[in-house]
Amino acid sequence: MATPQQLPANSPVGRETRRIDGPFKVTGLAQCTSDFRFPSMLYAVPVEATIANGRVLKLDTATAEKMPGLRAILHRGNIGRIFRATYEAGFEGITEEGRPPFEDDIVRYYGQYIALAVAETFETAKAAADAVRATYSKETPNVQTHLEPDNEPDVVLTTYGPRERLQSRRGDAEGAFATAPVKLDRTYVTPTETQNPLEPHATTALWDGSMLTLYESSQGVVNLRAVLAQMFGLPKENVRVITKFVGSGFGCKLYPWPHCALAAAAARQVGKPVKLVLSRKMMFQSVGHRPRAQQRVRLGATPEGKLVSIQHNYVYERSMLDAHHEDCGEATPFQYSVPNLRVTFGRSKRNIGAGADMRGPGRVPGLYATESAMNELAEQLKIDPVKIRILNEPRLDESLGVPFSSRHLVECFEVGAEKFGWSRRTPEVGSMKRDGLTVGWGMAGCSWGSARDICQASVQLRDDGTVRVATATQDIGTGTYTILAQLAAQKTGVSIDKVEVALGDTSLPPGPLSGGSLATGSLVPGVFAAADKAIGSLLVVAALTPGSPFANHSPDQLGFESGRVFVKSDGSVKGVPFHDLLRAANLRLVSGSGRSEATLFSHDKPKFSTHSFGCHFAEVTWQAEIARRNQIQGAVVMGIGMAFFEHTTYDPQSGAPINSSLADYLVTVNADAPPIDVHFLNYPDTEINELGARGIGEIGLTGIAAALTEAVHHATGIRVRELPIKIEDLI
Ligand code: MOS
Repeated sequence: MATPQQLPANSPVGRETRRIDGPFKVTGLAQCTSDFRFPSMLYAVPVEATIANGRVLKLDTATAEKMPGLRAILHRGNIGRIFRATYEAGFEGITEEGRPPFEDDIVRYYGQYIALAVAETFETAKAAADAVRATYSKETPNVQTHLEPDNEPDVVLTTYGPRERLQSRRGDAEGAFATAPVKLDRTYVTPTETQNPLEPHATTALWDGSMLTLYESSQGVVNLRAVLAQMFGLPKENVRVITKFVGSGFGCKLYPWPHCALAAAAARQVGKPVKLVLSRKMMFQSVGHRPRAQQRVRLGATPEGKLVSIQHNYVYERSMLDAHHEDCGEATPFQYSVPNLRVTFGRSKRNIGAGADMRGPGRVPGLYATESAMNELAEQLKIDPVKIRILNEPRLDESLGVPFSSRHLVECFEVGAEKFGWSRRTPEVGSMKRDGLTVGWGMAGCSWGSARDICQASVQLRDDGTVRVATATQDIGTGTYTILAQLAAQKTGVSIDKVEVALGDTSLPPGPLSGGSLATGSLVPGVFAAADKAIGSLLVVAALTPGSPFANHSPDQLGFESGRVFVKSDGSVKGVPFHDLLRAANLRLVSGSGRSEATLFSHDKPKFSTHSFGCHFAEVTWQAEIARRNQIQGAVVMGIGMAFFEHTTYDPQSGAPINSSLADYLVTVNADAPPIDVHFLNYPDTEINELGARGIGEIGLTGIAAALTEAVHHATGIRVRELPIKIEDLI
């Protein structure tokens, strides 16, 4: 059994440090995409379709074109070629909406772009876009909320390639369910949820001869370059994407959307830099959402609570053309031990924009369903929810037949239960009271994949004692600038404030996507390899420069520690700082490049199943008389939003998202957020990198909704199986 990690006393990694992007953000020096200005820059505003299903018959641009300062109304007839992009490999060549803007005159969702106004000011562009009149032939949109799987083949194309709809199978799930002494059969529904980062999507495009430069609010500049190069028929090296600061993303900025191609096409057409910033309303229409999903979970068990069968069949909504896969079944095959299992999915087309990854895609709705079912089974059998989970703890990943690189889930349950005081829970509904309120307690397990993307990085040691680390990843508010500085500091022995970090630019060595909680884990080996190469170079300089204190040694007799070069046999105390050696050799710097490979996308059977695991314990309070929702305590902020607030609703007449503003689309605000108590077990899993460092952006959102619905049931006796829980459900 592993023991919790002990950090070396002087390590810059794993301890509290000031974020290096902090001062830039609080002083306004941090430039997001819409902050960049260029001489003679123009502004673009898209014209959005006001129907969700039909055809554009005519565009009347006469009024718009007369406006002073208007430069162009671009549409299908005059924008020039925009090609489709196709998947390349790894995380390159990915789009969630595959149809280039204006490709045909068919409207498939409300808010689809049908024209683009380009003008000298934003105000003119907006007025002109509003003045464009479209005539449509219109059909009734399908935005039905009940989901039946479309009739599709067994293998369907999704964003990352073909997928079998029979996703996982072992034993005889149907047969074992039929004969199981205890059965549970439930359907859980999660709504369409829309990502709402503070900074809306934005593109500023510059087209200079054959060179396209894009300032974009992106979680993945390397992919964006690959896609835009394809869409405009350019070599990759003629496209540069710059993303220095991102006001968050939640997944909607992982892959490019049509506005980005429109800005680039407009810059090409008018020969001037073009800036296009989405409105909040557009954010609900054309840049992705977590698709609505309907999941049937059937559990068969023994009277003691041992699972004998799991069937998980889910259906999710998709847009008319696109193939985003909402993998609700991802964790089902390995979360618990069960001999008979069957996981399948179907999809149902709707007149809505393309779905997209949203924080914890797939597993967040998926674990809500399966963890809720486990809680319901526990209740049916009168077994404690923690105990039933421990009873079904697997020894290995039963879907792959390989061990987990680390799991520690039983210890999570035990520590969580102990910290929360779970043993004081009395299982009867409404049986716990405090200060005149009914208290409900619930819990659920959670998990998220732990993997690496490709990372190339460069590290320079410089003659002024500073270090530069560079890689084309992004900091979406998650601390990547600071993490890169910590990693470089750890390896080179300089303090964090002596590290210059460069990221968010495709002219740097290609780095990982800021998504899937995989950036941090991917950066560690890439940066460490680069630093080792730079140090290797330094040792050669130390040994070969005439007059160097190490001139009579070979490089392999030399060592490097805490920023100093020393003769190994003398020990590190007698070291010489690297910048002294560089100066003596008249070198500004030594540089090293490193690369680490992705653990994703491999078709080989892995040695280990690598995931992060955890659990949530939650409390709600309930006052039946006045139904006070704001009394909720104990959970995670976004999960509270998922359980209680967030859902995007489409108007059945027009197909338009109805609540497309932050006044109407409710998210958890400070007043809704209770005290949150977080405990890490602190076992480093060095399968992924030598520090055992991994992203934790997504795991916290998985499972939380199931813990909250369980707590609500415990307080009220009402099982809500369609999120969000509404006050009407409880009274
Ligand atoms: Mo996350 S959905 O991978 O940004």
